[in-house]
Amino acid sequence: MTDMTAPAAPSGTEAGTPPGRPGEWSLDALADAYAYPEGDGVWLRANMVSSLDGAGQHDGRSQPLSSDTDMRIFGTLRGLADVVVVGAETVRLEGYRPARAREAFAARRAAAGQGPAPVIAVVSASLDLDFSQPLFTEPLVPTLILTGAAAPADRVRAAREAGAEVLVAGDGAGVEPARALAALAERGHRRLLTEGGPRLLGQFVAAGVLDELCLTVSPTMTAGNAQRIAGGPPVAVPARFSVVSVLEEDGFLFTRYRRV
Ligand SMILES: NC(=O)c1ccc[n+]([C@@H]2O[C@H](COP(=O)([O-])OP(=O)(O)OC[C@H]3O[C@@H](n4cnc5c(N)ncnc54)[C@H](OP(=O)(O)O)[C@@H]3O)[C@@H](O)[C@H]2O)c1
Repeated sequence: MTDMTAPAAPSGTEAGTPPGRPGEWSLDALADAYAYPEGDGVWLRANMVSSLDGAGQHDGRSQPLSSDTDMRIFGTLRGLADVVVVGAETVRLEGYRPARAREAFAARRAAAGQGPAPVIAVVSASLDLDFSQPLFTEPLVPTLILTGAAAPADRVRAAREAGAEVLVAGDGAGVEPARALAALAERGHRRLLTEGGPRLLGQFVAAGVLDELCLTVSPTMTAGNAQRIAGGPPVAVPARFSVVSVLEEDGFLFTRYRRV
């Protein structure tokens, strides 16, 4: 992969020293390149993929837009995160499983005081989730559910019986984005990663709490009327981001933007 922005090569490579093709970068080098900011502050990063014509999905999945290197970066971003925040529809459609503990990130995570794998935090108002799935019954660290105070009591009970932890972060049916971040921070989670989907990401944007977007621009065109990567009501004034880095491989651009 070619780094089109930063001349400084990440250090600590196991094999294949950047700059080179991003797919050849070691996971260690990618992890260095994508490190969260130092400090105690909460940092919300999103990782999304889009086609050239703005689709965030094809046939209800993001996989047709992705590539091996995209998945390598996806895995690296998970390897760096305390928690992965994801909307319930993405969990349902993409069949989310628990995050894995990966040897490549083990030492780095231990040094950062992180558990072996990130917690998955599912945002849901209905809790219409299949609690018999491994995401709830077999995670290394209990899966969290972020919901509102008006969540159906029987579904909250079912979630807890399955082993999930339910956090209330809203007074009504839904979660208020800033309260969700505060609830995660209270539990010591400050390196936050959201993997969408678009309806959830749109709310983080609208609430002004998205710090960073890692956007893979996939060299594909889908036509149709797929969701974009962020949906919901538009913001009054477009939120402005500046580019941090752009890597390229096989026509895919792996961009990284930070809120100005
Ligand atoms: N391009 C990409 O990088 C990317 C990334 C992720 C997903 N996707 C695609 O996006 C599609 C799914 O995304 P989506 O936008 O339809 O759904 P989503 O954002 O993943 O999930 C929406 C659901 O999340 C819950 N939710 C969202 N905001 C909430 C709030 N404030 N309070 C409580 N619950 C809330 C609700 O769950 P309940 O219905 O349970 O109440 C809602 O139905 C899939 O096709 C997936 O493949 C693409």
